[in-house]
Amino acid sequence: MMSTCLLAQTRRVLPRSLDRSSSRSSLQSKAAPTMISQKQSEMPDCDHRPVAYKGSSYEQILKTRRNHLTPNLLAHFKKPLVIHAGHMQWLYDHEGRRYLDMFGGIVTVSVGHCHPKVNQALSEQTAKLWHTTNIYMHPKIHEYAERLVAKFPGNLKSVCFVNSGSEANDLAMLMARLHTGNQDILSLRNCYHGMSPYTMGLTAHSTWRFPLPGVNNGLVHVMNPDPYQGIWGGSNCRDSPVQTNRDCQCAVGCQASDAYYNELEETFKYSLPRGKVAAMFAESIQGVGGTVQFPKGYLKRAAALVRANGGLFVADEVQTGFGRTGEHFWGFEGHDYLPDIVTMAKGIGNGFPLAAVVTTPEIAASLGQALHFNTYGGNPMASAVGIAVLDVIEEEQLQRNSLEVGTYFLTGLAKLQQRFEIIGDVRGKGLMIGVELVGNREKRTPLATPHVLDIWEKCKDLGVLFGRGGLHGNVLRIKPPMCITLADANFAVDVLARAITESLPENN
Ligand SMILES: Cc1ncc(COP(=O)(O)O)c(C=O)c1O
Repeated sequence: MMSTCLLAQTRRVLPRSLDRSSSRSSLQSKAAPTMISQKQSEMPDCDHRPVAYKGSSYEQILKTRRNHLTPNLLAHFKKPLVIHAGHMQWLYDHEGRRYLDMFGGIVTVSVGHCHPKVNQALSEQTAKLWHTTNIYMHPKIHEYAERLVAKFPGNLKSVCFVNSGSEANDLAMLMARLHTGNQDILSLRNCYHGMSPYTMGLTAHSTWRFPLPGVNNGLVHVMNPDPYQGIWGGSNCRDSPVQTNRDCQCAVGCQASDAYYNELEETFKYSLPRGKVAAMFAESIQGVGGTVQFPKGYLKRAAALVRANGGLFVADEVQTGFGRTGEHFWGFEGHDYLPDIVTMAKGIGNGFPLAAVVTTPEIAASLGQALHFNTYGGNPMASAVGIAVLDVIEEEQLQRNSLEVGTYFLTGLAKLQQRFEIIGDVRGKGLMIGVELVGNREKRTPLATPHVLDIWEKCKDLGVLFGRGGLHGNVLRIKPPMCITLADANFAVDVLARAITESLPENN
């Protein structure tokens, strides 16, 4: 009998005629890797054999979801997938179909689904001790704390473990307010920092906000420095192998960055108490907001301005940490500044509920004013997983892989942009990539949702799972496990080309 992997593979052969040879002028040659681009139209091989699915029927799952799970749960695709097994960059549905996972459980599966080393670390730990809280000195959390803080520059040497990104950002808000004695916290429009009552206020997307009193207490959303969709932007603003197709006259520096920074200064002048700010939060690249990168120099100057006004700067590395952006281990390093607090989740645990806040001992001291407790944060299982994830990133050089495969991937996507008007923008760094689909390239208007969904669904049918993001859901988000290969990148680019071609009105 033909294996499941092979079956899935033969179903998804793309025409070899797809042409990917055109070039793009705004590509910066410095970032192009010296790798061979070969035509690759078939789903790359995989020798893993998933276990057969033996669970509830598809209909039963749908029924349970409809009747017993809360309606906030998103279900992707017209016929939502039942995913029951995973292996590295691959996912398997209940009928044995294999998919290339370009979204990694929403930027969470950093080193690969069911990575053997992480599995082994977890199973060794579960055989010894699952859980005890930090009232006892179980060894793993201490070993892990040493390993994690060693990854940080400067005096970022104190860590508090929690279970989710929202909790990490909640705690960072608390620490900033306690340490400074100030109340007001700034965040950028289009940001996503979580869904707890505290962080829902920080998050600045109408789609993610519930109409509750008090959500915005002490929170100010400032203009997003978005060089593609924002008021200002140009052809050399961002730290990416691919630039926007907007023009600019900057000979030195970045005028867009200056203009957005001036806007931030205006907020300080008009909306905040002088010298009395608690913090500003920023993702190093906005994730949920659609892989939005900021103009060079903006965050560094913003951090200085916040500090001059008595506040702390918090880098939310929930999506951009752990080597994903390729050049650096932490996204903030790409912006050349040192935050006061760093929050992390998702990729830290490869899917295990683990998150952390790292800060200086002085700022951490604010938590000594009262008891602060978290039952599971950094428990033996979580810490064992966290250590294994760090080991794998180092041993398999996944940060370097993110840089090489990510740059190559971006280059391939930029070539697609030349072929298809509806690709308005390609952006990102390493394996943190966005492809913005537009209805009108000049005006940068979002592509109509049914058309976006059609392309997205076609990609799924051809074997590639992309994420979506941005306020209008028109940005394809590509943030796969960092173990993907050049062949995977080729396949994903070819699938996207085919899906776009088939979706165009002249082909329907
Ligand atoms: C940048 C960022 N911060 C915080 C969060 C919240 O993390 P969690 O869903 O683990 O609470 C997310 C989740 O997507 C995120 O993308």
